[in-house]
This record gives sequence, structure tokens and C-alpha cells, in this order.
Amino acid sequence: MSAVVVTGAAGGIGRAVVADLVARGFSVAAIDRARPEAVESAIPLVADVTDEAALGAAVAEARDRLGPLAGAVSVAGVFHVASARETSIDDLLDLVRINAGGVLALARATMPHLIEAGGGSFVAVTSNAATIPREGMAAYGASKAAANALVRTLGLEASAHGIRCNIVAPGSTDTAMQRDFRAVTGAGRDDVVAGDAAAFRLGIPLGRIADPADVAHVVGFLVSDEARHVTLQTLTVDGGAGLGA
Ligand SMILES: NC(=O)c1ccc[n+]([C@@H]2O[C@H](COP(=O)([O-])OP(=O)(O)OC[C@H]3O[C@@H](n4cnc5c(N)ncnc54)[C@H](O)[C@@H]3O)[C@@H](O)[C@H]2O)c1
Repeated sequence: MSAVVVTGAAGGIGRAVVADLVARGFSVAAIDRARPEAVESAIPLVADVTDEAALGAAVAEARDRLGPLAGAVSVAGVFHVASARETSIDDLLDLVRINAGGVLALARATMPHLIEAGGGSFVAVTSNAATIPREGMAAYGASKAAANALVRTLGLEASAHGIRCNIVAPGSTDTAMQRDFRAVTGAGRDDVVAGDAAAFRLGIPLGRIADPADVAHVVGFLVSDEARHVTLQTLTVDGGAGLGA
């Protein structure tokens, strides 16, 4: 059975990614700074993605217990609502450290194993806010844009080893992060779907907030061999909120 490591595996999208990969027949190392729940064919491991030693040890344990790695999925991330003018350099760097640094750290920890295995798939879950300006998401969008740039360069460099690197960019997805966003901004579920012209925020053409599984299935596809000729791509899963731009 091929093994895949997933960070952010205790969160809404991360749990769904673990479930999708298990359903596809992968064994999974579920990594998070909060203890992920134990599910069949997945081992829970605790590590902070900004602690390279701890993350490296977790990935090495996954390799020892599960066998050669076929893939790695970076889902861990944090959110922060503040206008650009209210964002300090420290606020920006805090988000970049986790949302982009965590992607880089997972790549650095897993690439030697994927090279050893003769190839594999690396997927980073970033955000459609990396490419679409959103009021209140200055540092968040910047951190996700940095993650996108890292993954594309990584993919270019890793392709000689048969390693594919792709980005999944969700829009509004029904998780704790999305519910926190609505609590902070006072927006209701229907408001998110309808959009807000005053904030230049389009609604969601497909008329619903995504379930975590909607994002996870796309991640699972990119990890799988069905996507064996797909690399350096971004698959946006936002119900059309960004009009495909
Ligand atoms: N929910 C949305 O609407 C939405 C939209 C676009 C992008 N995203 C992105 O999807 C990813 C998953 O988000 P979610 O909605 O499942 O949120 P979530 O808050 O449910 O899960 C995030 C998980 O990341 C973990 N995490 C955070 N910092 C970490 C660190 N330093 N080390 C290890 N683990 C850490 C948390 O413990 C948590 O389990 C995030 O990268 C997020 O930015 C979410």
C-alpha cells in the first residue's frame, strides 16, 4: 500500500483529504499540531509545520511505519482578518511562516523520500485569495500567493525526479476556519453565497459553500496516478466565485 503524508489533518479539509486518500487505497500519516483523530489506515502524528525538526521526525516515522512515500499534501494553514493598513509586518510574517513556510517545510521533509521512491505527488492546498484581492485578507492572500510561487518552483525543480507538484485553491468551504471568518465579519452563510457588491466580492455562482469533501476529491485526484501527467497546475475549487480568473 502506498503512503501519503497530510498536514493540517485535524482540520476540516485535512480530515476530508485523509478520508479521500484512505478510500483510494493509500495508507496515510495524518499530521497536525492538534492531535488528528485515528481512522482506519491512517496514523495520527503531532507536529507543528513551522518546526522543521519535529516535522522531519514525523515524516521519517511515517516512512518507517508505512513504507515508501507516494505523496505529500500540505493543508495546514491559519487565517487572519485585517485590512492592509491594519496589518503589521509581524502579522504578515506570522502568516507567511505558517501558510508558506509550512508548505516549504513539508516539501523539504518529503522530497528526499519521494526521490528515493522514484517519484510522487506533492499537493498544496492554498486559496483562491492568493490570486483574487479580498477586503480584509491582505496578509492571508500574500501568504497564499507565496505558497503558490514556492510550489511552482518546486515542481519545476522536482520534475526531473518524476515528482509532480500542484496547487488546490479552495474558495469558501464549510469548516471551522470559514465559520470563524463569518463570526468575525458578521456575514451569514447566505451572505457568503450571495456576495457583497460594496466589498467587490462576487458570490458563488454554483450557489453553495463547498463541503470539505469537494476539495478533498480534487486533492485525491492530483495525488493519484490518474493525474500522472499533471504538474505545475492550480485547480480552483470555489464554485466559480473567482469567475475562473
Ligand atoms: N475553509 C475555507 O473556506 C478555506 C478557503 C480557502 C483555503 N482554505 C485553506 O484550506 C486549508 C485547511 O483549512 P480548513 O478550512 O480545513 O481550516 P481548519 O482550521 O479546520 O484546519 C486547519 C488545520 O491546520 C492546522 N494547523 C494550523 N497551523 C498549523 C501548524 N503550524 N502546524 C500544524 N498544523 C497546523 C490546525 O491545527 C487545523 O487542524 C488551510 O490552508 C486554509 O487556508 C480554507
